[in-house]
Amino acid sequence: MKFKIFETYEEASAYSAELLAEVIRTKRDAVLGLATGSSPEGMYKEIIRRYEAGDVDFSQVKSVNLDEYVGLTGDHDQSYRYFMDTHLFNHVNINKANTHVPQGVGQDLAALAKAYDELIENLGGIDVQVLGIGANGHIGFNEPEHELHLKTHVAELKPETIEANARFFESREDVPTKAVTMGIGAILSAKKIILIASGESKAEAVKALEDDFISTHVPATLLKLHADVTVVLDQEAASLLTK
Ligand code: GLP
Repeated sequence: MKFKIFETYEEASAYSAELLAEVIRTKRDAVLGLATGSSPEGMYKEIIRRYEAGDVDFSQVKSVNLDEYVGLTGDHDQSYRYFMDTHLFNHVNINKANTHVPQGVGQDLAALAKAYDELIENLGGIDVQVLGIGANGHIGFNEPEHELHLKTHVAELKPETIEANARFFESREDVPTKAVTMGIGAILSAKKIILIASGESKAEAVKALEDDFISTHVPATLLKLHADVTVVLDQEAASLLTK
């Protein structure tokens, strides 16, 4: 695991965007594993800037997103499909048909989850996976548990996650209590991983990435088993690191 620490979130975002752009420049039809949330927002702004400057071309790029709330359709302004469209896809020359977000609405979510894993496999796996991190150490919506799932599945959100995400909704009651999320298997199978964290609220979870343990109770620590992870931080998120 490589730690890259920047004074500001903006600098961290520019660095993450450059890592992502580099993957696309090396492989025009790269499969990007993408994340939502406030952490990667700056990176998306920066990569759009690079696209507008002609430095990166999304025409052949494919994407698979980590997760989606159960019960929200893509036109809901808090759905992750909506987030991706408005924060990235609408601003670059990606073919929308090549962008995939798990479906949070349907008769048989388990069957849709299975199909999502098959889709990732058929695309040839993920070239680079972007991740944020929950203050409780979750990645995607893989919440702290005794056991984690390898495959895409429906997850029950922890109260602290609902609390943290309530800021995007009118009230806490409006936050979905379940989500469909890629499992740990697809994430760890990505060729490269970029984890972005900013702000003091993430410092403890980030510290767990430095310490010498892995635990399903801090899901992000499983990333220590991966050979190519870059953790991109601002100073606040890095404030508890000791090395
Ligand atoms: C959310 C998402 C995660 C995200 C995390 C942190 O619940 N499911 O993919 O990384 O929590 O969110 P933020 O970046 O807004 O702090």
